[in-house]
Amino acid sequence: FRANIKQLPADPLFGLKARYAKDLRSNKVDLGIGAYRDDNGKPWILPSVRLAENMLQNSSEYNHEYLPISGFPSFTSAAARVILGDDSKAISENKLVSIQSLSGTGALHVAGLFLKNQYKSENESANASLPTIYLSNPTWANHFQIFNVLGLKTESYPYWNTSTKSLDLTGLLSTIDSAPEGSVFLLHATAHNPTGLDPNEEQWSKILDALSKKRHLPLFDSAYQGFSSGSLAKDAWAVRQAVNNMGSKYQFPGLLICQSFAKNVGMYGERVGAVHVVLPSNDEILQNAIQSQLSKIIRSEISNPPAYGAKIVSKILNTPELYKQWEQDLITMSSRIGKMRQELVNELNRLETPGTWNHITEQQGMFSFTGLTPEQVASLEKDHGVYLVGSGRASIAGLNPGNVAYVAKCIDAVVRG
Ligand code: LMR
Repeated sequence: FRANIKQLPADPLFGLKARYAKDLRSNKVDLGIGAYRDDNGKPWILPSVRLAENMLQNSSEYNHEYLPISGFPSFTSAAARVILGDDSKAISENKLVSIQSLSGTGALHVAGLFLKNQYKSENESANASLPTIYLSNPTWANHFQIFNVLGLKTESYPYWNTSTKSLDLTGLLSTIDSAPEGSVFLLHATAHNPTGLDPNEEQWSKILDALSKKRHLPLFDSAYQGFSSGSLAKDAWAVRQAVNNMGSKYQFPGLLICQSFAKNVGMYGERVGAVHVVLPSNDEILQNAIQSQLSKIIRSEISNPPAYGAKIVSKILNTPELYKQWEQDLITMSSRIGKMRQELVNELNRLETPGTWNHITEQQGMFSFTGLTPEQVASLEKDHGVYLVGSGRASIAGLNPGNVAYVAKCIDAVVRG
């Protein structure tokens, strides 16, 4: 070993989870990691998942054999339909390559490695520098290191305007315009993490236009489909808009989607996800080549993906009654979170907590970017046992009727100082 292996700080999210677990206060509240909790603060096994598990365990498909390298075929094809829509031309015209991944993080890693090995922007010569991945400021803490460990360069694009608590569209468009042609832009498909702020349709159209003009490659990270509006189709609007207009209105060199089912089926630990590569046109030779390159990455790193979760999700996606139940489950989760947002704001208003809090109800998905400072967040944890990420991100799913008034009272206390 080298003499001075550096000890790294704990992961911002899992480190927080560990501190929370050690805290002995009975009234502690976990608003840290993005995992859905029910009205009693407990993990929730979705009814659709329970039904699928029963069905699977009583079927002849139930075994623990290896999956193919590229994953469970009925899962990857159904996963593509979830994000692109049943009527997607990219699917019917065969412009797609899909492969199963270790949830969203694994998908981003595979996508990053594939881009590193096989993508060069149009104006780069064969041995020119690698593409830069542009990430929103702020973004999910893990994004940077997923690409940096691969040796890829990351840059930030303006996203959150701190003073107005809204989208910095001008800054974002100007960065798209000034980035070298063919750069990679990572976009949060819905329920932006950590801000909970998504562009509206008009803003998305401007973003996609600008990306197309510079022939940039959109890389969608879709980890919360169904959490923003409760509707899978609505939450896929931006992705579908981009994909459906490829090769006509939008001249993207290609498009990648990294899809996680951790949150929207609540199978966090089962690591179910997929990478979809969408080509501008049908090209079977290129498709087969890309499929083989993605397969090589999977084979060399994990041999083949985990089977159990993929079989459960496949069962849900391919069984109409279960799919309906899943859509209902998404409404249960997204509407409970919406209700908690409202109750938190009501409580803060009732306490006349200094500042404005309506951004909490305007944001969507699992998170709220509260605007609390790192000092206020530290005091919430130390003095009150309320755990948030240092950026001020609160996982609203951690609120419930039993703790929301307490959390508002603690926020009120730290804001007043
Ligand atoms: C989060 O942002 O809290 C989640 O995506 C969990 C994680 O893996 O960081």
